Amino acid sequence: MKIAVIGTGYVGLVSGTCFAEWGNEVICVDKNVEKIMQLSKGRIPIYEPGLETLVARNQKAGRLSFTTNLSEAVRNVDVVLIAVGTPPRAGHGDADLSFVHMAAKEIAHALSGPAVVVVKSTVPVGTCDAVQKIIDAVRPAGDVSVASNPEFLREGSAIDDFLFPDRVVIGVEDERTEAVMAALYEPFSDGSTPVVMTKRRSAELIKYASNAFLATKIMFINELADLCERVGTDVSELALGVGLDHRIGRAFLNAGPGYGGSCFPKDTLALLRTAQDFGVTLRIVEETVSSNEARKRKMALKVVDAIGGDVDGLTIAVLGLTFKPDTDDMRDAPSVSLIETLQRFGATVRAHDPVGMSNASRILENVAFFEDPYECVRDADAIVVVTEWESIRQLDLVRLKSLVRSSNLIDLRNAFARGAARAAGFSVSSIGRPS
Ligand code: UGA
Repeated sequence: MKIAVIGTGYVGLVSGTCFAEWGNEVICVDKNVEKIMQLSKGRIPIYEPGLETLVARNQKAGRLSFTTNLSEAVRNVDVVLIAVGTPPRAGHGDADLSFVHMAAKEIAHALSGPAVVVVKSTVPVGTCDAVQKIIDAVRPAGDVSVASNPEFLREGSAIDDFLFPDRVVIGVEDERTEAVMAALYEPFSDGSTPVVMTKRRSAELIKYASNAFLATKIMFINELADLCERVGTDVSELALGVGLDHRIGRAFLNAGPGYGGSCFPKDTLALLRTAQDFGVTLRIVEETVSSNEARKRKMALKVVDAIGGDVDGLTIAVLGLTFKPDTDDMRDAPSVSLIETLQRFGATVRAHDPVGMSNASRILENVAFFEDPYECVRDADAIVVVTEWESIRQLDLVRLKSLVRSSNLIDLRNAFARGAARAAGFSVSSIGRPS
């Protein structure tokens, strides 16, 4: 198949590359000239394990190319994927769809024959209907149909999530489009991966419901972690005991400083906005959002309490800055509010992250960044672990202890074995474990 992908963010770049890997001829389009120039040279603008190799392989095979020229790219294709951003509108909480609408109009003008336009961006219910209207207004011939095909990939494991997903969700309104979409996902036609073929609105809502459920699961375990601390039990054992029930599942029951990233915070708010528009109250999602906000604030107080009630004039070393490991993404990372609050309380902050420091330095002010985690903790009054990178888990606790000024280790991800940290001489404060 000939495929054009509009937008080379996470979803667009990973989907385009993976469709090429399946043998399709893919052209990726972005308005950002510099980005397209770099991609054409095989340079990947995001940190995503395995992506660079996959892009290079498919570029070399002549199946994957990059351009800024949307009109030329879409002219003769069978399928156009819209994978542009849907950022939250300032002060509203709902998704800004102007990029999606703009892309739809441009595509409609440029297409030379029948095609299926697939919306991959995360969009509120009814967006595909609106995109269909935009296209129909430009092309009354009715030879271009719109499908919804939300993406469920996670940053850090995006390629595996795309190539080996739990399921594929497709929303269509007619049989011709259904056939094109089935052909697009031909590798799964052997039944190895469930393909949920449904209507466009259902597919759109499935995406938001999935993210809201996962966010809720995280906040459930986080609240239980607070209770564990009080009653003297360990939240990891609780998560295991509860999660082994296959109706519940162990995944996404890791307690921590709250969820961040470009998806859960934005998508939960957008879902609430949709519910409001339709006169429905989603109380559980509302509580999830406010519980997460409260938790992020609470983390700074947890650090202050662990250190003895006052951080004014103290130096705190933060290990791990990105919203989760294996990404350089700092969007809505819990580390940001934590660091800013500690600074307001008078602390000096030093920080280390294996990959995210360049992005972090654009957001955080007055933070000293260190490539070397051991240098980062030198003479600090406390170490705070915010992101559970494997390289951070593997740090030598005895060496860390020898470098710090005092023994406070606040482990907000339970990244270190508590016994080992105590044996190294740390006084450890962790999540969901009695102190
Ligand atoms: C999330 C979903 O997991 C993907 O399925 C979805 O496609 C994606 O959003 C999206 O909508 O594009 P992502 O934001 O990359 O993926 O990251 P997750 O791995 O889901 O983690 C999100 C946040 O939850 C992180 O801050 C992470 O630290 C936190 N988390 C996750 C926990 O605190 N505990 C857990 O057990 C799991």
